[in-house]
Amino acid sequence: MNSGSNIQVRRLGPGDAATYRTLMLEAYERHPEAFTSSVAERASLPLSWWEARVNPDANAHEMVLGAYKGSRLSGVAGLSFESREKARHKAHLFGMYVPSNLRGGGVGKSLVLAVLEQARKRPGVRLVQLTVTQGNAPAQALYERCGFVPFGVEPFAVALGADFVSKVHMWCDLRVD
Ligand SMILES: CC(C)(COP(=O)(O)OP(=O)(O)OC[C@H]1O[C@@H](n2cnc3c(N)ncnc32)[C@H](O)[C@@H]1OP(=O)(O)O)[C@@H](O)C(=O)NCCC(=O)NCCS
Repeated sequence: MNSGSNIQVRRLGPGDAATYRTLMLEAYERHPEAFTSSVAERASLPLSWWEARVNPDANAHEMVLGAYKGSRLSGVAGLSFESREKARHKAHLFGMYVPSNLRGGGVGKSLVLAVLEQARKRPGVRLVQLTVTQGNAPAQALYERCGFVPFGVEPFAVALGADFVSKVHMWCDLRVD
């Protein structure tokens, strides 16, 4: 799969579920404004929930890609597919995370490009959508560099205690290189 200079990206499988869970709980805890799920609700889910998320089936409705530097899982991004007939042309990028000490080295970009590569391989998929919290400049800049375009802002999208954050909705047309 797509790789940067010393970055290898591969699809995670059931054997990666515990490591994936640990990384995502760190993401939800350190960046509550960036994710809609909370650390408390995800920490309470059984390991089987995480195993299902990394189901290796070729037609699974979602997949998670992991970026590796050597044997270390250095970042993750998910891709989900619509099952309804009239929405099957759309896929969604979700759960993008690179630990802070590994950022700025191309891990995020390798993951987004690998997600787009996987979306292109799925028959009938025409575009990928995602949401990013308004003001999350590193993430939005990364998505724009990879071909995503904003198409709207959802106000009051996520509640953070007594506050709310807006979400920028973005899409990438897979027919455009
Ligand atoms: C967003 C995130 C995944 C980026 O990961 P990363 O590994 O640092 O990204 P990369 O090193 O591949 O950088 C990709 C591009 O973004 C740019 N970029 C990186 N950090 C940036 C910053 N702080 N401000 C602006 N641009 C930035 C880089 O210049 C790079 O562009 P280039 O390829 O033209 O040089 C990471 O910051 C992260 O996990 N943040 C916390 C969780 C989060 O916000 N997830 C997204 C939820 S929608």
